[in-house]
Amino acid sequence: MHTLFTGNPVIWIESLDSTNRYANIQVKNGTAAEGKVYATHVQTNGRGQIGNKWLTRHRQNLTFSVVYEPTFLAATEQFYLNMAVCLALSNFLQKEVYLPALVKWPNDIYVDYEKIAGVLIENTLRGTHLSHTVIGIGLNVNQDIFEEELSSATSIKLKTDKEYVLEDLLDTFLSYLEAEYLQLKARRFEDMYARYTANLLFFNEERVFTANDQVFSGIITGINSDGRLIINTRAGNKLYAFKEVAFVV
Ligand code: BTN
Repeated sequence: MHTLFTGNPVIWIESLDSTNRYANIQVKNGTAAEGKVYATHVQTNGRGQIGNKWLTRHRQNLTFSVVYEPTFLAATEQFYLNMAVCLALSNFLQKEVYLPALVKWPNDIYVDYEKIAGVLIENTLRGTHLSHTVIGIGLNVNQDIFEEELSSATSIKLKTDKEYVLEDLLDTFLSYLEAEYLQLKARRFEDMYARYTANLLFFNEERVFTANDQVFSGIITGINSDGRLIINTRAGNKLYAFKEVAFVV
């Protein structure tokens, strides 16, 4: 383990409905301190973004939640936490398993236009600042068959032809996550933003989008301070929040 305070040790639980739900309960009970990591081999009711489910085959993939106490972050700066997590995942996949991983705004990780990981971050606020965050990550590792409805999903094994030991992979990933969290704590926002856009799928490319039942082309030119996507269109710059816009791949 190469971390100072993240997952020392990881708390592995045989089966859980959702590691995020479990971690949130520990936060409420006061038993989850900075750096606690809860992972499960069998997640039976995984939660995805905007009320979706996260489906994962038992014992084949990583499903875990990390608790931090980012009290140094204002509520208006929450998106930098998403950036930190996405940067950790894309960096980890690039450097440890040599995959051309990119971030699909706001917090999915893609390899060759297929989703390899999803992130669900749940923050608790105290006044104007964050008190706790639960960072839930589902990373497809050894699964090589996906249900039809997940046709655009992939895994590390599908891309590398190798099987991985989940516990070892998680330990390695946590060192990437902790490093990014420390960057966040040091408020290296400009550098994080530059690295996020450098690793952003479709950044600075002419692409087709849909929003409000309209199809239009435009170029992603950045993310604003509250995490909204900036798309330059013929009608000028437009700002979109999560789920207000979709990419036509
Ligand atoms: C998404 O892409 O919709 C986000 C998926 C997040 C799934 C992970 S798996 C571990 C953690 N526990 C949950 O219930 N969800 C997250």
